[in-house]
Amino acid sequence: MDLSDLESKLKESQSSRMRLVVTDGVFSMDGDVAPLTGICDLAEQYGAMVFIDECHATGFLGPRGRGTDELLGVMDRVHIVNSTLGKALGGAAGGYTVGPKPLIDLLRQRSRPYLFSNSLPPPVVGSALRAVELLLASNEISQSMTAKTMRFRNKMTEAGFTIAGSAHPICPVMLGDARLASLMADDMLKLGVYVIGFSFPVVPKGKARIRVQISAAHTNEDIDHCVDAFIQTGRKHGVVS
Ligand SMILES: Cc1ncc(COP(=O)(O)O)c(C=O)c1O
Repeated sequence: MDLSDLESKLKESQSSRMRLVVTDGVFSMDGDVAPLTGICDLAEQYGAMVFIDECHATGFLGPRGRGTDELLGVMDRVHIVNSTLGKALGGAAGGYTVGPKPLIDLLRQRSRPYLFSNSLPPPVVGSALRAVELLLASNEISQSMTAKTMRFRNKMTEAGFTIAGSAHPICPVMLGDARLASLMADDMLKLGVYVIGFSFPVVPKGKARIRVQISAAHTNEDIDHCVDAFIQTGRKHGVVS
């Protein structure tokens, strides 16, 4: 997220023949979107390549769900993308890397989980392929995600909660205290909503939160039910009035 730090690293490493800037497209705990335009500008200025991990973007971010590089209009400036079949695509396991052919040829020989592990089970491949077909056929799913995400974020903010990140379906409900996050998550489950509290060492001390992920499969009623449950448990624990 820190472009001046990136620039200083690129300056320090000027003597290296090949350099690769590696970043998540979206950071998982806060839902922060990497500043890819600035990253690509710096990479081009200093002759480096760009590699993004799109596990928290593939399938729903950007107008057609292509990911962070589509959202920020830099699809032709990113060299390597890896992602998972096991998150938004719902295929339970597996992943992929796309990039220049020499890189892919190298990975086929050197990538440990590719070369020395069992292949993905055919049902997982089948379900992931179907998910990709659905995304290619229509932009409706990725666009409905944006609307549902904003519904949740706006209603929660109106109710007095602090939601980190912006416009991403990872919606961290910031609570601060680890015990509070855990107790509230337990109470949410009693109201039929399964959410997980995250605390140190997964996130910094004092930044405990409940991380909510909005899914395209949620209805508006599901989202409203979730917000109501948050308000009820939040009042019980003195988080909102
Ligand atoms: C940024 C990021 N990359 C990669 C992975 C790993 O994905 P997989 O479980 O499909 O190997 C994760 C999993 O949480 C992740 O958050």
